[in-house]
Amino acid sequence: MDSTATSTPFSTLIRTASHEQHTEAESSTFMSDMLGGRLGVEAYTRYTEQLWFVYRALEDGAGALRDHPVAGPFVQPELMRTAELERDLAHLRGAGWREGLEPLPATAAYAARVAECAREWPAGYVAHHYTRYLGDLSGGQIIRGTAEKTWGFERKGDGVRFYVFEQISNPAAFKREYRELLDAVNADDLEKQRIVDECKRAFALNTAVFRELGEVFPLSA
Ligand code: HEM
Repeated sequence: MDSTATSTPFSTLIRTASHEQHTEAESSTFMSDMLGGRLGVEAYTRYTEQLWFVYRALEDGAGALRDHPVAGPFVQPELMRTAELERDLAHLRGAGWREGLEPLPATAAYAARVAECAREWPAGYVAHHYTRYLGDLSGGQIIRGTAEKTWGFERKGDGVRFYVFEQISNPAAFKREYRELLDAVNADDLEKQRIVDECKRAFALNTAVFRELGEVFPLSA
């Protein structure tokens, strides 16, 4: 292991290593079209449905990891999103929102990988946890603002509750503490490298979901 890995804080390492893929995810056709206000609310609904499958995997797996030496410190009740997603889906799809709800193939693959990590490799679960929750606390806030404006949801209300962390009053401070948790992660350099690799995989899994959503909602030229 070279000295960079040991001397660079892990939070910096994982952010830097995933930077390129972050740009790719952010600038995917579906994201750009959705955030550019060029897609209807059905596209946003379909996207929210995909999130529900992913967060179910993240959060169903969380309970058993609460006392795990590596993943345990990351499991924090104020981050949990499933209940908020269900309120948003009830608003978007109606009371029978669960009926006929199916993940896209890329979403099913993503959720399966998260569940597999939760079960078999808790350090890998940390990579998925970071990729989603730190993203939601960051760029997620931009997505919320755009969704409110584009489709007329009440500010921080039904439809965008997923992006509202009621129990986190100071997101900047929370993110700072989260980075401290990353820096203190109970893993050696080799395992840290594997976590970084899994983070890249997590970004790729997200991008694959965007690609499929983009196929379902192409812009009619
Ligand atoms: C259009 C969509 C997106 C926008 C506008 C966006 C924007 C941002 C911004 C501005 C930050 C920096 C915040 C800060 O430094 O505190 C950030 C961080 C982050 N984003 Fe995104 N993002 C988007 C999509 C995504 C996606 C799809 C993912 C992954 C699923 C993601 C994961 C992350 C993560 C993990 C961080 C934290 C980086 C770190 O500080 O370690 N973002 N995003």
